[in-house]
Amino acid sequence: MDINLIQTQIEGDLAKIDSLSELEEVRAKYLGRKGLLAELTGAIAGLPVEQRGAFGKQVNALKNQTLDLFIKKEKELTAGNTVVKKSNLDIGMPGIAQELGVLHPITRVTEEVCAIFRKMGFSILGGPEIETEYNNFTGLNIPLEHPSREAFDTFYLKDYSKMLLRSHTSPAQVRLMKDKKPPLAIVVPGRVYRPDAVDASHSFMFHQIEGFMVDENIKLSDLKGLLETFAKAVFGNDIKMRFRPHFFPFTEPSAEVDISCIICKGKGCSVCGRKGWLEILGSGMIHPNVFKHVGIDAKKYTGFAFGMGVERIAMLKYGINDIRLFFENDLRFLRQF
Ligand code: PHE
Repeated sequence: MDINLIQTQIEGDLAKIDSLSELEEVRAKYLGRKGLLAELTGAIAGLPVEQRGAFGKQVNALKNQTLDLFIKKEKELTAGNTVVKKSNLDIGMPGIAQELGVLHPITRVTEEVCAIFRKMGFSILGGPEIETEYNNFTGLNIPLEHPSREAFDTFYLKDYSKMLLRSHTSPAQVRLMKDKKPPLAIVVPGRVYRPDAVDASHSFMFHQIEGFMVDENIKLSDLKGLLETFAKAVFGNDIKMRFRPHFFPFTEPSAEVDISCIICKGKGCSVCGRKGWLEILGSGMIHPNVFKHVGIDAKKYTGFAFGMGVERIAMLKYGINDIRLFFENDLRFLRQF
């Protein structure tokens, strides 16, 4: 039997196949228990003694070469295909779609409001939720025994009587005005806390966005123009805006800002309590006493400040009637945004 001929034949057979099942068939034909190589090995014993050695060597060499050829072929057939082979993964099966989340409505409205002010040149900064009594009250011209402290009812930290959870974002004014020199145009979004009983319009934690501007010659009309631009960007160009006189210890004069009711367009409905107007924020010219606390010369500089509740803006914008919906993580609610 011509060993070289057999090797050529094996190579020819391997060259023709392109699947693992075919490879197994060819393997059985040559290397199987009843394959050609087993047959050749068996034939050695039947040869005359003097031929056995040489023939045995040839058969052995052929066997080794054949094994190598099969290993090489198997590698070729599985190259780039290993995952499929190992796990029997069916790459033809339809995939499982990933559910995409959306931003929480509070995050969305916060980002939208900040973007409007950023466009008008404001920087967006932050402040801590745990504040000093000084920054939350005294520095803002709210004296210790002043009844207006009740309007900003506060969680105090038990063992640190001078530390509290900020009841508004206005303490950021004190921090930042102490830290930086005018001209200043800054917006500060963040969480605030008040010990209110939770109901449809109250939550012990909610979000505010503070804004203030300080420079020479800042006027009340600057505040009004800026807030009107803001209100129209959020609620649409057809709304009207008005200043309604109010009191805040840290601004003088102070005003609450109303927009014409977006539901009844000012005619009067249940949403606006028949008034035709909806309150959206508090504002005013920064009180000289606040400037004194932070070391800004009130003779040289003037400024305005405003603060709005993010939940309130979001409720008006999207027609949401219960503040608790923001914090219950009910996907039926959150999926609508
Ligand atoms: N801090 C006030 C509040 O929480 C809002 C406000 C901010 C009013 C800045 C005037 C100026 O109600």
